Amino acid sequence: MMKSTFAHMFSKSSNNMKSSEIRELLKLLNSPEMISFAGGLPNPDAFPIEKLKPVMDHVMASHARDALQYGTTEGHNKLRDVIARGMGEHYGAPQQMSNILITNGSQQGLNLISKVFLNPGDKVLTGNPTYLGAIMAFVAHEASISAVTIDEQGMVPELLEDKLKYLDRRKEHPKFMYLVPTFQNPTGVTIPHKRREKIYEIMCKYDLILVEDDPYGLLRFEGKREPLMKSFDDENRVIYLGTFSKILAPGFRVGWMAAPEEIIRKVSIAKQAEDLCTNSFGQFCVFEAMYHNILFPHIEEIVNLYRKKRDLMIDALETHFPKDVRWNKPQGGLFLWLVMPDYINTLTMLPKAIENNVAYVTGEPFFPNGGGHNTMRLNYSYATDDQIVEGIKRLADVIKEFIDENKGKIAEDYVSIP
Ligand SMILES: Cc1ncc(COP(=O)(O)O)c(C=O)c1O
Repeated sequence: MMKSTFAHMFSKSSNNMKSSEIRELLKLLNSPEMISFAGGLPNPDAFPIEKLKPVMDHVMASHARDALQYGTTEGHNKLRDVIARGMGEHYGAPQQMSNILITNGSQQGLNLISKVFLNPGDKVLTGNPTYLGAIMAFVAHEASISAVTIDEQGMVPELLEDKLKYLDRRKEHPKFMYLVPTFQNPTGVTIPHKRREKIYEIMCKYDLILVEDDPYGLLRFEGKREPLMKSFDDENRVIYLGTFSKILAPGFRVGWMAAPEEIIRKVSIAKQAEDLCTNSFGQFCVFEAMYHNILFPHIEEIVNLYRKKRDLMIDALETHFPKDVRWNKPQGGLFLWLVMPDYINTLTMLPKAIENNVAYVTGEPFFPNGGGHNTMRLNYSYATDDQIVEGIKRLADVIKEFIDENKGKIAEDYVSIP
């Protein structure tokens, strides 16, 4: 291997950046035999390709001079306006256009928020576990993450308050808290209404800002919609991140931030240095897809598709998996969360799974403060139905063998730091 010539020149913050395990694993999708439950990809069969072709033709025929041009940093005004109104109509959290900034996917939103809020060493509160892409953004800006254990209903208000009291005593005021309240990545859990209200109450008491990341909220298969944290936001302390990645197509790289105007102005300045503006063509396509009523019927279609895939995966788990393994049944989103017996390390087991041509994501990297060595995340949206059944069978064989080999062993030095 070539010796690195540049190691001493890379910045301190770039050395905090670790390549995501998910990204690394996505490379495995290239092998034709591999059945991967590892990524978080929408199913390409479900992209509304035929419906989008006339939309793109229309963009080129009627709006090409703007759609091919640079746009304003805040984004295409018609798109900002329809999102601002849509947040009122669909989420009970009406916005003005000036509160909306179009981002290059919500991942950019996370990076921009980190850029404008975080100094090295600043505290950020998250759930334990939480979305890896968010951890990566915060760590890249040298934040210190303080994670609060979640249960099957997400962030536990009492534990959050305990953590805030503890930090208060140490005079460490977190810059913000980050939550994916609905169908969280990685666990699929959703915070119920009452808990959301309680969390908001605690946020107000401790003067806390919330980053509410919501890529999956509209992918609900059943059950009642929970209100956005943003819909309680009388005190203007919620920064909401939305995205078209999971409800239309991630290739457009179009998402948005809804936040107080002062934050939008600051973030726009940071965004100028990053990319000048979000992809104009993508923004025009997304706007026209909404204007021509393609988006919501499409969401209905993918909800039906993913519900079927979730059920198929759960049926296969029930049929093939050993009973020592537990999993949940989220009412939406893209993921199931599995907990193995304590003596199973899913990272140690992964090469065995890959050898058997099935891939998953290990749970541990989602835990900023450690833990989760016996957990894994399974994605059900991407694989075909046949692959789901076959892949779960393969994984069950791997797990059974691993349980036989490891049963009775005591979990080695896994210390979960609260
Ligand atoms: C919780 C969460 N936030 C943000 C993102 C980033 O999405 P995008 O940048 O495509 O909008 C993802 C992607 O999987 C996610 O799961």
